Amino acid sequence: MPKTHDDILKAEEAKKMVEDGYDQLSDEYTRIRRLSTRDRKYIDLLMERSPKGGRLLDLGCGGGIPSTKELARHFKVVGIDFSHNQIERARKNVPEGEFHRMDMTRMSFKKNSFDAVFSLLAIIHVPREEKAGLFASIQEILKPNGHLLIGIGCDDWVSEPGDDFMDQPMYWSQFGAKKTEAMIIEAGFEIIQATIEECMFRGELERHFFVLAKKI
Ligand SMILES: C[S@@+](CC[C@H](N)C(=O)[O-])C[C@H]1O[C@@H](n2cnc3c(N)ncnc32)[C@H](O)[C@@H]1O
Repeated sequence: MPKTHDDILKAEEAKKMVEDGYDQLSDEYTRIRRLSTRDRKYIDLLMERSPKGGRLLDLGCGGGIPSTKELARHFKVVGIDFSHNQIERARKNVPEGEFHRMDMTRMSFKKNSFDAVFSLLAIIHVPREEKAGLFASIQEILKPNGHLLIGIGCDDWVSEPGDDFMDQPMYWSQFGAKKTEAMIIEAGFEIIQATIEECMFRGELERHFFVLAKKI
């Protein structure tokens, strides 16, 4: 049976593969990334439930386009990404935002300091062993009744050597939808909506799990 990346890489080595990969593909990824009707729907949902002018943290914000830029119309946006090229691009694309080059599994923000946390297609790259800790730290930095909206993988799957994204070696590490939902509840959230969504990306049908949850 082929070994997965989680069998052969330490968490830090796996994340370095992701960081280096996005440094390389930042230009091309930002060029082709468009706001889908799915992205629009979930961004609107989060805006409806959050105070205008509230503080939002975008985890793995990439180059800031399209979602961070959209979110900045409603929120005071703080974006983090560990790819140097992605975060530099976000600073240029969303000058009204505040950006930090930071690993989301090692965040350093004050407790109860955000009205909302958003993360689209980024937690898919966080090693499975670090996901519970990540949800716990998101819960800690959100204000009471603050909302979390994530788009994450829906299959129980880890990448293998040879897997790539846009010609760059890439790492993914995911739990199935049910397990992800249970972990979010365990971290101290109430699930408001949890849906598997289908979307076309570069001519291929992709499935992602979208979860809207409230800190309790
Ligand atoms: C597929 S891109 C998504 C970017 C953006 N959210 C979007 O929807 O277009 C994934 C991003 O997550 C970032 N990322 C992955 N793991 C991360 C981590 N542990 N800490 C910070 N950023 C991370 C990558 O550098 C990359 O920019």
